[in-house]
Amino acid sequence: MMETKQWVVKGNPPIDDPSIQEAAALLREGGLVAFPTETVYGLGADARRTDAVEGIFAAKGRPSDNPLIVHIAAEEQLVELVQEVDELSLQLARAFWPGPLTLVLPVRPGALSHRVTAGLSTVGVRMPDHPVALRLIEAAGCPVAAPSANRSGRPSPTLASHVREDLDGRIGGLLDGGPTGVGLESTVVEVTPDRRIHILRPGGVTAEELAAAAGGAPVTMDPGLLEAAADASPEAALAAADDGFAAPDGGLRPKAPGMKYAHYAPKGRLTVVQGESAEAVAVRIQQELDQARAAGERTGVLAPAEHAGRYQADLVVSCGSLADPALAARELFASLRQFDEAQITCLYAEAYADRGIGMAVMNRLLKAAGHRVIRV
Ligand code: TXA
Ligand code: MG
Repeated sequence: MMETKQWVVKGNPPIDDPSIQEAAALLREGGLVAFPTETVYGLGADARRTDAVEGIFAAKGRPSDNPLIVHIAAEEQLVELVQEVDELSLQLARAFWPGPLTLVLPVRPGALSHRVTAGLSTVGVRMPDHPVALRLIEAAGCPVAAPSANRSGRPSPTLASHVREDLDGRIGGLLDGGPTGVGLESTVVEVTPDRRIHILRPGGVTAEELAAAAGGAPVTMDPGLLEAAADASPEAALAAADDGFAAPDGGLRPKAPGMKYAHYAPKGRLTVVQGESAEAVAVRIQQELDQARAAGERTGVLAPAEHAGRYQADLVVSCGSLADPALAARELFASLRQFDEAQITCLYAEAYADRGIGMAVMNRLLKAAGHRVIRV
């Protein structure tokens, strides 16, 4: 265990802010610093140093075949990291950076530690839209590799307290910049040779927004993602929940290696209930809760604000609102953590509408549930 140094940073700090300078010095020395971005908190290290990047995998308990996103603070840094930037990728960078979009591009040999790319010939790069993240990267003067700052398998952190829960004593520093804005991670895309914008992970930038900025280029979803979203067998779901890995199914592999892992999972057994009729969903969830309670489980429900009052359980968490899909994105990970705090052993979530940012919400929720879904 080491002491995790903490700095509280408010608003828009200047680059010579002492907290930013200390945190940047730690990064330059090969240390690990957690910092806020507009999506979730990231766990940063100098992306050129293998010793530093190995520290990320160790602190998180992350499988080493899962590559890291590299964070930059200026467009000029991009050309140093990648071999070439096709015109459409550049167009997307200019439309959405700084912002929650990660572009997968051919890595420039020697520019980054091989541990960042996990042996792939590509690297995911993004410019975060958060003043603390940008000042930190500028002050450090290096590309910053940063996965979400949670222990592997846990919900991503949207508050500094979540980072402390997971990583206190395992990392050198934590910049506390308050709650993150978007609440779930960036959209990961790759522009294909036939000029499609291929979504490898849905996130803060929606498919609709990508289409609008694409100048007519089609937007497609990684088929591995679609398959992962299909109803998995209960056995596969259980295996996924038990060992942190999705069960091998012999089918398509998601192209973003991270998408094959069970993620974000609360400790209790989570099931998503989906149906055309909100009433039928509520009735089914309450039936399941009553049965689980009778069997001695501590029960929980996650539902949008308008529906939360319908349920009787040990813990009902209102997450987002039907009227405001972005709020569900912002609140989802913190909501999932609440069930662990209350030691809930069996919980149910209403499905959210699968449009716009809702696509990313449902992707994370289904992963958290190990793809256990009841359809009514
Ligand atoms: O919003 C975010 O993206 C946050 C903040 C901290 O920036 N970061 C984040 O990193 O979510 P991480 O490591 O938790 O997720 C990275 C995802 C994984 O699913 C990984 O497999 C995928 O991006 N990825 C990274 N590099 C890739 C590559 N070269 N090709 C395909 N997928 C890649
Ligand atoms: Mg993550």
